[in-house]
Amino acid sequence: MLNKIASTTHEAVYQVSDAESGLEGFIALHSTRLGPAAGGLRMREYASAQAALEDVLNLSRGMTYKNAAAGLPLGGGKAVIIGNPHSDKTPRLLRAMGRAVEALEGRYWTAEDMGMSPEDMAELAHETRFVAGLDSGSHASGDPSPVTAEGVFNAMKVGAEHRFGSADLAGKRVAVQGLGHVGWHLCRMLHGAGASLIVADMDAARVAGTVKEFGASLAEPGDIHRVEADIFAPCAIGGILNAQSIPELRAKLICGAANNQLSSASDADAIAAREILYLPDYVANGGGIINVAAEILKIEDRDPWVAEKLETLRQTMARILSKARAERAIPAHLADRTVDELILREAV
Ligand code: NAI
Repeated sequence: MLNKIASTTHEAVYQVSDAESGLEGFIALHSTRLGPAAGGLRMREYASAQAALEDVLNLSRGMTYKNAAAGLPLGGGKAVIIGNPHSDKTPRLLRAMGRAVEALEGRYWTAEDMGMSPEDMAELAHETRFVAGLDSGSHASGDPSPVTAEGVFNAMKVGAEHRFGSADLAGKRVAVQGLGHVGWHLCRMLHGAGASLIVADMDAARVAGTVKEFGASLAEPGDIHRVEADIFAPCAIGGILNAQSIPELRAKLICGAANNQLSSASDADAIAAREILYLPDYVANGGGIINVAAEILKIEDRDPWVAEKLETLRQTMARILSKARAERAIPAHLADRTVDELILREAV
């Protein structure tokens, strides 16, 4: 079921397959230096097994950075299932993935990601102890999305203070790409703060709901990154900031929930050259893993613990931006360096 693949960049990478249920996927443990590798399980249709492998490698590396930046005693890992979550997901398939996670004996903790729900996590929990994001149980944390959105919202205010001279988002035009679990909550908070919203999603019903609920204007999914706005909030897919989109950006601040927003590390330089402030995604969106970590770490009084970690995350973003300004560095690179140093220090 678990077939180890050689890797020079990750601590351990496994191909996961189960003929009986049709499961095909990967589990990648990027680093366990700060603690057990933790990161969600994603299910989606990939163009090829190679594309799925690349995704799990990138995402698990991102989790190492995200968990470290959030000050959590957790390393970075991720799992993917190749398939359509609407038509290919079966209890048998999920249970097979649960057995694969269990076989790693706690070196990897899973939770939901795209294409997964708390009910799916409950299915995995029949086979493994190392699953979080459950709706019920002694330390259940449920849907992390509202906490993720809160972290993004906090980060956006810190970014606005740096880019516009005030953390007040009232009157700011924010272009939100993706109105799913996180995007919708972010729109709710932004609307509450008096921002005006321009939104896009592939799902017309979601767009209609957001337009109605928050008086948002709508944009085509292919245009949302280049609409006239103060802030661009990518809350859908990765790789949205790339050689084609960056020259077209009109916002002065980018802060969103999506993982791996930069197509490559050098895209951060291209964005900075346009005097756009890009907030490192894994710091902005760390709220969700904080919520999940309370479950993994079995925190008894979770609400104050989560609130305190969210505030620390906000301060971390503020420190990164201040230091980057003082050193004339690019915040995304500075964040990477800071985490690299932290991991090396802990490893000694
Ligand atoms: P979701 O699956 O609930 O929502 C994503 C939305 O984006 C969907 O409504 C989808 O129709 C839309 N979408 C997809 N492609 C699009 C495109 N090209 N243009 C416009 N809209 C598009 O996902 P969720 O949970 O809201 O997550 C959003 C992003 O944030 C993902 O990248 C996810 O990995 C990341 N993230 C989510 C966390 C969470 O707590 N849910 C935590 C940290 C990161």
